[in-house]
Amino acid sequence: MLLFAPDIPMSADEFRLLRDFVYQHCGLNFTEDSKYLLEKRLGKRLQHHHLKSFKDYYYLLRYNQNKDQELSEVVDLLTTNETYFFREDFQLRSFTEEILPEIRQRKEQIGDRRLRIWSAGCSTGEEPYTIAMLLLEQPAFADWQIEIVGTDISQRVLQIARKGVYGSASFRTTPPSLQQRYFTEVEEGKLRIADRAKNLVTISHLNLFDAPRVGLLGRMDVVFCRNVIIYFDLAAKKRVIDSFFQRLRPEGFLLLGHSESLMNVTNAFVLRHFVHDMVYQRPALASAFEAKP
Ligand SMILES: C[S@@+](CC[C@H](N)C(=O)[O-])C[C@H]1O[C@@H](n2cnc3c(N)ncnc32)[C@H](O)[C@@H]1O
Repeated sequence: MLLFAPDIPMSADEFRLLRDFVYQHCGLNFTEDSKYLLEKRLGKRLQHHHLKSFKDYYYLLRYNQNKDQELSEVVDLLTTNETYFFREDFQLRSFTEEILPEIRQRKEQIGDRRLRIWSAGCSTGEEPYTIAMLLLEQPAFADWQIEIVGTDISQRVLQIARKGVYGSASFRTTPPSLQQRYFTEVEEGKLRIADRAKNLVTISHLNLFDAPRVGLLGRMDVVFCRNVIIYFDLAAKKRVIDSFFQRLRPEGFLLLGHSESLMNVTNAFVLRHFVHDMVYQRPALASAFEAKP
């Protein structure tokens, strides 16, 4: 008996079938040189189902009665979920010192003390919980109704986000004073986020390409979508960014990762030059795309 099953090779045709299937589902864009990566990661599923070829696996993904569950396994295997608390400090400073005061002033003028923030592609939850901690540190928002929605396509990472328990890698840039205030040790090297931060956050499963479900989120004051669109091609970026535009209230802000920009993607947003960072903002008057409710 063989202890290790030999790797099954993926043909160029099989690669294209699977790559296009994944792209249609969730926008992840694998170039020709990713064949080895798909072969390695999806090869585990062939072994699991005792299949002899990637073509058989493709048919399973298309037609098996458990195809949705299998697609979820594929998403877990192919997404990159790297994240940590207080990532991209300069941008978070812009958020707390420049963006939040501006939103507060604008909304208080009309007696509106509600704030809705979406962390799109939240992975294991460090990003939405960071936003929650930053808001709890703002006395000016103490009597506001705050809702932070964290969404991701990978069920595996969402399970971790819902638990809210983290190891040391998540704390690589966390200020010690905040770590002390918002976390308690639950076992050796594992810290749980405090309920007062957790309670501001709702964690939900959402594929950014599922337009009807994205529409159900309602309007947001700020969208964080950091280190997500780097994995999409231009057409997929345009679709996702258009949906953020629709979800944002007029003058709402879109915060992308430091290596991401809307250059060649859309001119619908204004680029605001703050002291700490440059941030995209939906104009007060929508011109190019008229906002849907
Ligand atoms: C690198 S993580 C970014 C986490 C966090 N935003 C940050 O910057 O630290 C990218 C996340 O995007 C998610 N993602 C990729 N494609 C997606 C899609 N179509 N819909 C929703 N989430 C997606 C992945 O599952 C992954 O958890």
